[in-house]
Amino acid sequence: MPGYPALPEGIAYGGDYNPEQWPEEVWREDVRLMREAGVNLVSLGVFNWSMLEPAEGVYDFDRLDRIVELLHSWGIMINLATPTSSPPTWFRTAHPGARLVDREGHVIAGGTRHSFCPSSPEYATASQRLAERLAERYAGHPAIAMWHVHNEYGWANARCYCETSAEAFRDWLRERHGDVAALNAAWGTTFWGLTYGSFEEVEPPRLALPGQLTALQLDYARFSVEAHIANFRRERDTIRRFGDQPVTTNFMIANCVAMDYWRWADEVDVVSNDHYLEAARAENHIELAMAADLTRSVAGGRAWMLMEHSTGAVNWQPRNLAKRPGEMRRNSLAHVARGSDSVLFFQWRASRHGAEKFHSAMLPHAGTDSSLWRDVVALGADLRGLAGVRGSRVEAEVALVWDWESFWALELEWRPSVDLRFRERMDAYYEALWREHVTVDFAHPGADLSAYRMVVVPSSYLLTEAAGKNLRRYVEAGGHLVVSYFSGIVDENDAVHPGAHPGALRDVLGLSVEEFHPLPENGTVPVGDDGLTGRIWSERIRLAGARTVHAFTGGPDAGHPAVTRHELGAGTAWYVATALDPSPDRAPGVPEGFRAPGHAPGVPEGRRDSGDRGDLGDLGDLGDLGGPAGGTGTGTERDLRALLRAVLDQAGVSRPRGLPDTLELVRRGRYLFLINHGEEPVTVPEVSGTGMLDGAAYTGSATVPAGGVTVVEPAGDA
Ligand code: GLA
Repeated sequence: MPGYPALPEGIAYGGDYNPEQWPEEVWREDVRLMREAGVNLVSLGVFNWSMLEPAEGVYDFDRLDRIVELLHSWGIMINLATPTSSPPTWFRTAHPGARLVDREGHVIAGGTRHSFCPSSPEYATASQRLAERLAERYAGHPAIAMWHVHNEYGWANARCYCETSAEAFRDWLRERHGDVAALNAAWGTTFWGLTYGSFEEVEPPRLALPGQLTALQLDYARFSVEAHIANFRRERDTIRRFGDQPVTTNFMIANCVAMDYWRWADEVDVVSNDHYLEAARAENHIELAMAADLTRSVAGGRAWMLMEHSTGAVNWQPRNLAKRPGEMRRNSLAHVARGSDSVLFFQWRASRHGAEKFHSAMLPHAGTDSSLWRDVVALGADLRGLAGVRGSRVEAEVALVWDWESFWALELEWRPSVDLRFRERMDAYYEALWREHVTVDFAHPGADLSAYRMVVVPSSYLLTEAAGKNLRRYVEAGGHLVVSYFSGIVDENDAVHPGAHPGALRDVLGLSVEEFHPLPENGTVPVGDDGLTGRIWSERIRLAGARTVHAFTGGPDAGHPAVTRHELGAGTAWYVATALDPSPDRAPGVPEGFRAPGHAPGVPEGRRDSGDRGDLGDLGDLGDLGGPAGGTGTGTERDLRALLRAVLDQAGVSRPRGLPDTLELVRRGRYLFLINHGEEPVTVPEVSGTGMLDGAAYTGSATVPAGGVTVVEPAGDA
């Protein structure tokens, strides 16, 4: 299987290139300016299906041939797309059965991309036929570095509820459960007497009254992921018949709730990701870091590609804030620091037409006499300086457990509190560790965790028995585990593990929970004697081997354990029974757009964009972006960060001390990335080597200017 694309050398730089939107004379200006900016890779033809196949079975590759030759003659490599995320209008007309149907039974209209059913056989045939024509024609071309199949699977058509999908779902269920008795047992259909007599009786989880079977909803979410993967595989395997360039598709790792990217990981030759900042979120560079770490983890630690981000504002948030001076550079280099070997944008040239004309681009409407263009050119030079970084690995000593299935399950209706949100705790723990300058990996709960000194489980409501045992083995072998409340509660079918909560983790944590006491809206509860404050959750813990570190000092569980530790085998398992915040006076900045969609029935679907974008599903509203502002992160002893610091110390996790948490510090191989997000210069001690961006010699310390980035290559083998 091919790995990372061999070419271009160094760090790939460029973006989506949509020349079909422009007359040919513009193309010549494009390539000239690409060269000026140092662009060496473009994702070509992501949306050009109607150009290539203007009528069913009628092909016209003339313009694409000319563009490919033009780029090749200028030495610009191509990531050739199959444009199958946006079928032409003839496809819709000819194949009405392939139209997307939403949960409420609406047939989704055309006039935009993605409006097809992922289980449609007509779509399968048409997309494969086009992929075959493209691969046959271009796989041997020396300019084609790699393939970009489709665009953002699951962006807006994550789940379709039409009859074709229903049939495909039934086949999938037969495969998964064998017979209907097994399905009934797994789904617990004796509850409310919802027993099925045959697979034919199973409907997709279409719009229903409250209380729809949650196991049905989870299986539908799983089935839908597989439907998209099947579409990808079909195209990928077709392309592989003609060439051996790597094949990828661009993920939306932190933004698409509907896909399970652990399942996608092994399907692609190189993991690639699209990331967009939530402009209004305070300190959104922390969320960027998290997305990059998650992408690297899905890539199994191998180099990955930043396939899209933005030079400035996007067009789909309520207020599309431009990036601040230096922010595009900091964003780009933070992705590289965390394992990306590319910096690619959506898109090369700002569009004049259509939905995205107010989205920033490498070449803005204002043209080359603009600070944005000058920044783009400067970034190209920066990346040339970082060529040596390519392929080096980021090593992490701490892992956060992340499971999309648990994300889906937690955010279904009728949980003990609407404040139980996957991203709320995930972001809180990530942020606390980020402020401690600890680089983390993410891991599936069933993964081999033995390489990590410390493992954190911020939100694993759904945890299989096998995964619980995996965590137990990790601790017994000497690991340090931190578990947050409402984890290990249900199995893969959303059935409560037998006995007291948390069934999958009772023995690991050395405790059980007698009763949950979720707090009222905005309620808080005091913890311990040092001024810790919990939000969202309290519960009555019964110790069974664990010891109390802090007790609740007020609220429904006053006098009972709030934070515990359990020595087990050679390791320790900590448990935190309330929501501590990552820094004083600051709840994590989880935007509303990332919330469960209002806890309306249904597994969250689609990308967490603005509902204004017209996506399907309950996409939340980015109008409420941002948690409380502020967050100076002074790191008093009264927050989650202080608690984690104690565990980090006990686990022996190495990290720099005494740096402000406006400074992002990441080691990638032997290279040290220092990104200053603050408004004051920061001097980092014990730094010696050469500045890769500015050629400076550092002997003993490096001062990173306000808003600046320094990358240091240590002297010799240091
Ligand atoms: C996604 C898509 C692009 C474009 C950008 C805009 O990432 O892949 O085609 O729509 O969003 O932010």
